[in-house]
Amino acid sequence: MTAVGWGKVILLGEHAVVYGYPALAAALDRGVTIDAISTPAGGPLRLDIPAWDLRVSASARDEEHPVARALAAIADELGIGRPAVTLVGDAQIEHSAGLGSSAAMAVAITRALLVYTKRAQDVKTILAAASASESVMHGKPSGIDATLATHGGIGVYRKSAGLRPIAAKIRVLVAPSGIPRSTAAMVDRVAQATASGRTQMTNAPTTNSDGRLVELGNLTDTGTTALLRGDHAGLGAAMNRAHELLANLGVSTEQLDSLCEAARATGAHGAKLTGAGGGGAVIAIAPRDREQAILAEWKHAGVSGFVSTIG
Ligand code: PMV
Repeated sequence: MTAVGWGKVILLGEHAVVYGYPALAAALDRGVTIDAISTPAGGPLRLDIPAWDLRVSASARDEEHPVARALAAIADELGIGRPAVTLVGDAQIEHSAGLGSSAAMAVAITRALLVYTKRAQDVKTILAAASASESVMHGKPSGIDATLATHGGIGVYRKSAGLRPIAAKIRVLVAPSGIPRSTAAMVDRVAQATASGRTQMTNAPTTNSDGRLVELGNLTDTGTTALLRGDHAGLGAAMNRAHELLANLGVSTEQLDSLCEAARATGAHGAKLTGAGGGGAVIAIAPRDREQAILAEWKHAGVSGFVSTIG
């Protein structure tokens, strides 16, 4: 049985969510799939995702490759030792693109290992294993990626309360910029730009009352209300303002700014970077009859975007 973990987009509230503010996020209709195949000749626990040119094996927790360490963390969390299994994967999203690829991979691996060891697909177990993997990959994540990769759907996420699903559906245009970046480095940049004064992600405080983070959290509330009312212009306005604040916090780039500008100039209700920034992806929402023109503008800028129905 093929196991899946969904990619995600954050519509509003990234970075603020690290400090306990709410974020509006949704699973994409694509992600990472994994099949667990037993290795008859024996050997280590292996992972092979040709779409990402990724091939690692997990013997100990101190492997050099972070994905090997993440794989070992999942196996340890599940308490299964190192079975002679090859996890063969496929990915419909790019890695390091701000689309939750590492969490999607962790959830798909966990589900595949649960199938292989004939254990129940218990959500708590999946989240715990995916979180162990995310901690290896990202330091101290808010948990939003692992939660969406596990549950799918759309909702408001808070670190303290988890995901509150909402009944909404919307088409989102996604443009992976092709520039990889580190989530941990971007979270660290926000810690430095705000009043926290700490520089290491692992030491990031859990509360931070910097006005920009407070406003990002408030925009999640405004944007969610607009989405639930079907007011896409209102949601778009909240997204535009969120992008300004994220840029002010230092996590946008000239390329991300110009992809957003191109979408707005072509009729989008709103556009912003999504995820950690510093590269990664931008998203836009737009009237249906503007979608193709926006994708064409992005293509012109060298970026191959796509439309995903979320919710
Ligand atoms: O790793 P990304 O790019 O999908 O973004 C994660 C979202 C952040 O709020 C920046 C970090 C987090 O842990 O919530």
